[in-house]
Amino acid sequence: MKVLLVTGGAGFIGANFVLQAVADGLTVVNVDKLTYAGNLDTLEPLNGNQRHVFVQGDIGDRALIDALLARHQPDAIVNFAAESHVDRSIDGPGAFIQTNVVGTLGLLESSRDYWRGLESGVRDTFRFLHVSTDEVYGSLGAEGKFRETTPYAPNSPYSASKAASDHLVRAFHHTYGLPTLTTNCSNNYGPYQFPEKLIPLVIQKALACEPLPVYGDGLNIRDWLYVGDHCHAIRLVLQLGRIGETYNVGGNAERSNIEVVKAICSLLDARRPLKDGRRHESLITFVKDRPGHDRRYAIDANKLQNEVGWRPLQSFESGIEQTIDWYLSNQPWVQRVLDGSYRMERLGA
Ligand SMILES: NC(=O)c1ccc[n+]([C@@H]2O[C@H](COP(=O)([O-])OP(=O)(O)OC[C@H]3O[C@@H](n4cnc5c(N)ncnc54)[C@H](O)[C@@H]3O)[C@@H](O)[C@H]2O)c1
Repeated sequence: MKVLLVTGGAGFIGANFVLQAVADGLTVVNVDKLTYAGNLDTLEPLNGNQRHVFVQGDIGDRALIDALLARHQPDAIVNFAAESHVDRSIDGPGAFIQTNVVGTLGLLESSRDYWRGLESGVRDTFRFLHVSTDEVYGSLGAEGKFRETTPYAPNSPYSASKAASDHLVRAFHHTYGLPTLTTNCSNNYGPYQFPEKLIPLVIQKALACEPLPVYGDGLNIRDWLYVGDHCHAIRLVLQLGRIGETYNVGGNAERSNIEVVKAICSLLDARRPLKDGRRHESLITFVKDRPGHDRRYAIDANKLQNEVGWRPLQSFESGIEQTIDWYLSNQPWVQRVLDGSYRMERLGA
């Protein structure tokens, strides 16, 4: 594969993927609506690079997507574009349905029509890869892991909208033969994550010596994966995944939220001790739980490991250390998000 059309490539995971793919010699046509979560600062290293074409646009804009497919003739489409923050989906589910469901449908229709028109050789190798989440499976008790065969039971408007998009992708394969692949990944963390999500939020608040908010009792468990490992998994699935299949992606790194926050605190104690001698842990503040907060997610990634040979390169310990060091060395990137200058407006009050 030489040319990819990537959607949502100015967001957290999409941009990490685009930076990696272009560095590896691929050409990327990057379509992103630039919602609050899209940040062109992240893509600055690609300025002037002929192998990166950025287009501001909506995945549901059929005329735009049709024209881009016709012009650039991509070998694959990778769909990252989504509304992705659970808390925002609780406050306003409409945007989630519009982009994650209706937008994905438009993208699938354009992809199907483009794929049908390809000559046979290219047509056989073309792939549509849909990036999804483990949240579609709902919540686990103390035991067990999500497998690809686990029934869908989404609990938040976000996960319900992602589940709907996964079903549409599946239906486009079964109904029209579109060569699709779906990946369902656990929680990601790493460079360029928008500071509304747990890990960058806690790092920033700790640096500002502000209270570190932890939902409920802090015992909700997620399976954390370093973003570079997720991007690598997607590249392998594109090359080696079986058409029509879904692959779970996870780091085998279950941690409760409170464990994650304490790990960040102790690394910051060593790197940026608080001036008054207190430990960062003293800033932890439990806050009212998120409604419908899923208790535990855990991924069985054996299918991915056995079929495409993927293994995460980072453990939680090495990944979180790298992430903290990235945030410490890239405060101008964070500050431009916080003061709104990345999109000419200010966040919050
Ligand atoms: N972050 C995670 O932990 C995680 C885990 C598993 C799966 N995922 C999935 O991975 C994908 C990327 O997640 P992320 O964390 O990078 O999200 P993000 O919110 O950081 O980025 C989403 C990007 O999509 C763009 N976008 C939104 N609506 C669009 C539209 N209608 N048309 C075109 N672009 C649009 C935004 O501008 C933004 O750049 C999502 O599909 C998400 O469901 C995320």
